[in-house]
Formats: sequence, C-alpha cells, structure tokens
Amino acid sequence: MGTTVIRGGLVITAADETNADILIEGGRVTALAAHDSDVARAWAESADRVLDASGRYVIPGGVDAHTHMEMPFGGTFAVDTFETGTRAAAWGGTTTIVDFAVQTVGESLRAGLDAWHAKADGNCAVDYAFHMILSDVNEDTLKEMDGLVDEGVTSFKLFMAYPGVFYSDDGKILRAMQRAAGNGGLVMMHAENGIAIDVLVEQALAAGRTDPRYHGEVRHALLEAEATHRAIQLARVAGAPLYVVHVSATEAVAELAQARDLGLPVFGETCPQYLFLSTDNLAEPDFEGAKYVCSTPLRPKEHQAHLWRALRTNDLQVVSTDHCPFCFKGQKEMGLGDFSKIPNGLPGVENRMDLLHQAVVDGRISRRRWIEIACATPARMFGLYPRKGTIAPGADADIVIYDPDATQVMSAETHHMNVDYSAYEGRTVTGRVQTVLSRGEVVIDDRSYTGRAGHGRFVARETCRYLG
Ligand code: URP
Ligand code: ZN
Ligand code: ZN
Repeated sequence: MGTTVIRGGLVITAADETNADILIEGGRVTALAAHDSDVARAWAESADRVLDASGRYVIPGGVDAHTHMEMPFGGTFAVDTFETGTRAAAWGGTTTIVDFAVQTVGESLRAGLDAWHAKADGNCAVDYAFHMILSDVNEDTLKEMDGLVDEGVTSFKLFMAYPGVFYSDDGKILRAMQRAAGNGGLVMMHAENGIAIDVLVEQALAAGRTDPRYHGEVRHALLEAEATHRAIQLARVAGAPLYVVHVSATEAVAELAQARDLGLPVFGETCPQYLFLSTDNLAEPDFEGAKYVCSTPLRPKEHQAHLWRALRTNDLQVVSTDHCPFCFKGQKEMGLGDFSKIPNGLPGVENRMDLLHQAVVDGRISRRRWIEIACATPARMFGLYPRKGTIAPGADADIVIYDPDATQVMSAETHHMNVDYSAYEGRTVTGRVQTVLSRGEVVIDDRSYTGRAGHGRFVARETCRYLG
C-alpha cells in the first residue's frame, strides 16, 4: 500500500478542529500538517494518491458499538449479513462495528463466539469486533468470560427482558457482574423488567389490543427505569462498571444521571431511533407501525428533548444504532394480529452519522460532540481507542471525507442495507459521506463503492478505556 494524502479539509476530532492535511502510510495516519505548509506540499508531491477534501470535513470513521448482523430473533434472523451490513456501514461513514455474538442456552460462550467468527470472517467490508451475549450464566460460562476478555471480547450483554430467551435473573446478573469486576469486562445491560412486561403483554392481547402501538404501551417507561435502577444497584454491589444499552425513557436517563452524580462508573447509550422517531410512528395505520417495533420501544416525542440534553451533559455518552433489521414483508408481518410476535429491531447502521450530523445542523450538538458520541467515546468505551475513533499519528486510517452541505433524502430506494424499508423514509438531511477509507484503503470513492468483502478484519479489543 502506498502513501495517501488527504488535502485541504477541516479535520474534526472529539478534541479539535484543525485545518490540516493528513499523511497516511501503511494503512495508518502518520502525520498532520497545516494546509499549504512546506511539509504538506512535499507530501502531496510525492504521494501515490492525493484526495481533495477542500470545503469538506475530514472525520474519523464512525464506530457503531451496537449491531446485530444475522441475529436470530423470534423465529427469524436479522436480514443484514456481515457482508451487506458492513458495506452499508461503509456507505454511511462507519468503519468499525461491534456486533453481538450470541450464546445459545445450554451451549458454551466458545460455541457462540466461534459461530459469529464464522459468519463474519472473510465477509466484512470494514473492521469488526464482538461483544458476547450471555444467555446462560453458570459456573462454566462465568469461567469462560475470563478467556474471552483475553482474546479481545471484553464486554458482555445481559438481558433483564425476554424471559425464556435471553433473560437472566438478578442472581445471575450479580454473578456475571462480579466476574466482570475481576476480569475487566464491561457488563452491558438491556434494562427492562421483562417479567412485568410479559404480564402486560398477556393482558393486552387478552383485551384485543394487538396492534404494534401496544408494544410501546406494555413496555412501560417505568419498567425501563426500574430495571435501570436495579442494574445500577447490582453493579454497585458487585463493584463493576455498567453500560446500559438503548436507553429511551426520560425516567431511565434520570436513574443514570443520579448514579453518575454519585460518581459511579455507570454509562449509557441511546440510538437515533429514540432521538428522531416516536410512538407516533408505532401508531402508523395499516400495520406500518410494525416497522418501528424495537426494544426498548420508541417513546412519546417529549422524551427526545431529555435524551438530547443528556447527550449534551454527558449523562449519555454514546449513540449506537442497535441495527437489527427485519423486512416488513414476511418478517415484521409475522406479528399481524399479535404485536408480541413482531421481531424486535430497526435498521440504521447506514444512517447514524448523517442523522447525528443533522443534529449539528439543527444546533443540538456541536461538531466535536458529534465525533465524540459517534466515534471517540464508543472506541474508548470498548477498548478500541486510539486505534479507532480519532485522527492522530498511529491511528488506523479509518477516515471519512464528509460533505456538510450536500442534502439527501433517506429512502429504501437508495439505501444499501438489505431491508425493504427505511425507518427514515422521505426524511431530508443535510450532510453526506463522500469518500471513506478503511485502514488507508478507499472503500467509498466519491460515492462509488470500491471496497470488498474480506477487507474488514476482526479487531481484538482492550478492556474499557473510558474509566481513566
Ligand atoms: O429491538 C431490539 N433492540 N432488537 C435487538 C435486540 C436487542 O435487545 O438489542
Ligand atoms: Zn437489547
Ligand atoms: Zn441490540
């Protein structure tokens, strides 16, 4: 691989905005220099490739710390494979995903992780790493956690929801947290009281309330807040840090904020769907609401302002997608007449960087905060920084040349995710990815895909680096 220079752009990281040219050698950033400086001119003259970024932003590739490619759920599978999903990620300016390997009840973590490696190996357009879903906490799997941390799978998702599938009771959760406190793993929590939710599901269906919007009603905000509170107390008892995934309710944010005010190592992510969509979407007629069924569920619009505020005050630190796409035809339709049978999950891996840039345009967050919540902090949180999530000497040259002035209309007609609808159909946003480099290789070249399946590599992660 020769040398590449990215010239003339505004380089934005979580820390700085600099008018600088970037020198890339051997797939890594080796230096930055002021535009038109002698050194920058000399680089451009001798480089194998010069990419013009005049009038553009030059940002680190996005790090999406929450995806589910080919995830089994409710008798079907998320439709993006690692090949289609990572290609769509690249189109959307995301150059690293952290996907969830799934442990099946009764089987080992090893078996689950090996299965996920087999799905991803040789198929990815951009780099990838894994978290492990713990579905069956027992003596053997607790011991296995240590080995996974050693091989770079340093975070473990547990579920307080989905009894009979992924659910763990409080004792199991406590034991996993104690183990993580010892081995440096980070526990990620799906915080919803699934036992109580199942009672409400049963009552709603018995009363004939079968439409998608009831998915939102039975998964009550207070049941998210209660589980969040309980997870925090369990983590406190175990002496473990905690990362709460897909936070959607104001009341859950309040629990996180309270814990953080006490100085506890408690972190939270939200997702674009909770920032831009609402129960109004879940209530769309003709079963269209099924397109928006995910858990935690979409909330009434009023919650959005609290999520944005928490992102500004750092009570929430990360925006990931929870990309888990199911087609409307044939998959979401499995829940016609019974909302509890609608597979849970939304597509979004391609949309996150653009939607968050729209938030910059709208004045909700600054440009540097955009990069912080979408690139730098997820990289730090999950042991990828400073290799990923920033532009600095020594970092992988995962870089996006971003046009902040282009407008685009989001649509299933034009997106690259392998799913038959867009959750943001018809939405106009300002800003668009122009060119993307993954470890110095151009994978999107001025809006043409030039990448390949198999370029993306597994990244063994360090433990959480957000703690200090
Ligand atoms: O609805 C969702 N979020 N589906 C994916 C699985 C999960 O709980 O993250
Ligand atoms: Zn979850
Ligand atoms: Zn998820």
